Amino acid sequence: MRRNGYRPDALIETLHTAQEAFGYLDDETLLFVSHALRVAPSQVYGVATFYHFFNLKPQGEHVCSVCLGTACYIKKAQKLLDFIEETYGVVPGNTTEDRKLSVLTVRCVGACGLAPAAVVDGEVVGNATVDSLRERLEGVLGK
Ligand code: FES
Repeated sequence: MRRNGYRPDALIETLHTAQEAFGYLDDETLLFVSHALRVAPSQVYGVATFYHFFNLKPQGEHVCSVCLGTACYIKKAQKLLDFIEETYGVVPGNTTEDRKLSVLTVRCVGACGLAPAAVVDGEVVGNATVDSLRERLEGVLGK
């Protein structure tokens, strides 16, 4: 914030930096940024919840985001979420009890031509099937 002169228009960069430092953005952090940049708390919260790359809860060791944008939804991305819930017992927005896997849903990751798509630890799994997603998740989770 100091580097950017506490400018309100540096809000997104500030939130990125805070998330890099803490792993997620809790209420205390959002309020601190709000006061420091003189931006309304509602605006800070609005930005933090609008962009899917900001996390408001601690994330697991690995993160799987399943796209539910139109193209992926039509290509039955819900089956991927059903598989994850059945296999790992976790629904979107949550983390497994062992804190190994967080599951999120997103609205379009820019890979519509590869629908349905999921992103596992930052890498896109295109034309995802239950089998290909299982393979990728077992690869990162070591199972
Ligand atoms: S709708 Fe899923 S990548 Fe665009």
